Amino acid sequence: MKSKSSKNLRNIWYVACHGSELKAGKTIEKEIDSEKICLGRGDDGKPFALRNQCPHRGIPLTYGKFDGREIECCYHGWRFKTDGVCSKIPALPPDSKLDVSKVRAPYYPVREKYGIVFIYLPRDMRKPEDIDESLFPHFPIPEGKSFELVTAKPMDCSLDHSVIGLIDPAHVPFVHQSWFFRKSSNLKLKEKNFAPSHLGFTMVRHAPSKNSAAYKILKKEQTTEISFQIPGIRIEHLIIGDQTILIMTTLTPVNENTTTLTQFLYTDIKWIHWLKPIFYRFADTFIQQDVDVFKKLKEGLQNDPPLMLMGDPDMQAKWYNAIRTRYEKCQEEKVPFENPIKAQTLYWQT
Ligand code: FES
Ligand SMILES: [Fe+2]
Repeated sequence: MKSKSSKNLRNIWYVACHGSELKAGKTIEKEIDSEKICLGRGDDGKPFALRNQCPHRGIPLTYGKFDGREIECCYHGWRFKTDGVCSKIPALPPDSKLDVSKVRAPYYPVREKYGIVFIYLPRDMRKPEDIDESLFPHFPIPEGKSFELVTAKPMDCSLDHSVIGLIDPAHVPFVHQSWFFRKSSNLKLKEKNFAPSHLGFTMVRHAPSKNSAAYKILKKEQTTEISFQIPGIRIEHLIIGDQTILIMTTLTPVNENTTTLTQFLYTDIKWIHWLKPIFYRFADTFIQQDVDVFKKLKEGLQNDPPLMLMGDPDMQAKWYNAIRTRYEKCQEEKVPFENPIKAQTLYWQT
C-alpha cells in the first residue's frame, strides 16, 4: 500500500509530539502530512503509531478500546497489538483455519528520544522498516536529557513556506518588533559564516548580536550556533560560560495547508527554570507574530503567484530547496544522502 502522494519529504523522521502528550494506556489521533494516525503509549511505556483506520472496514482505531496492550476496534471487535498485528477476530468460529496474525493495521516506526516522539513517514507503507539509521536527526543535547515543551501552534501554510519562514533572517526586524527585540529602524550589517551539517547547514558558533536587548540581560561570555536540518528542525544552541540553552523549533506538516510549529527548550541553567513563565510568554508572543504573518501570507499565496529568492538574505531558503531536492533524488536512487551545501559567508542587514 502506497502512502497518499505527498509533496513533502518522505522516508524521513518528523516530530510527532512531545512525549508528555502520550499517556500510558491511551491513544490520540493526529493528522501528519495528510495521514490520520493513531498515536498511543502502551503499558510498557513505549509509544506506537498505526494508521488510524481499522483494516476490516475502515473505522478509526481511536474509537476503539485500548487496554494498554491491544486495541479493540469499536465496530466488530477485531483486536490489534501495538505493532498493528491482529490478535483476534471475535466473530470467527473457534475451528476457523484463518490466520488472523496475517492481518495487520499499517504501522509507522516511532522513536522517543530527548523527550520527543519522532515518527518515520515512509513513501511506501509496505516497507516502513527499510530505514537508513544515518537519517535520524542530530541534537546537541547530553545523552539521557530531555527537552521540555514550550508551545505548539498551527501555522496556516505548507511545510515548505513554514521552513523558509523559519530560516529567513530578513523578516525578523519587521515581524518580531517588540521592546526586547531589535528594531527595523536600527538595521546592522551582519556577516555570518555557514557550514554544511547533518541534513542541513549551520551558522557557525559566534558571539550573539549585541543590538538585541535579550542578549544584554545575560552578563557572561556567550556564543551561539544555529543549525537547520530537514525536514524542519532549527536549533539555537547558546553557550553562556559553561552552561547551555537549546531552543529548538520543529515543523511538522498537518496537511498541505497547515503546519504545526513546536518549540522545545533544554537548559542546565537552574535559575532559568524560575523565569520559565516569562520566557514562555516571550516565546509565545514571538511565535504568534509568525503565525499572524503567515495568515496574511496565505491570502497572498491563494492565486499561486511566482515568487523570488533574492541574494544572501534568501540564500538559506535556496539551500533548503537544494537539500530537499538532493534528499529526494538520493532516496529515489537508493544512495546515501550527500549534502550539496558548501561553506560560505553570507551578508545581510537585520
Ligand atoms: S471495522 Fe474494525 S473490526 Fe470491523
Ligand atoms: Fe519569525
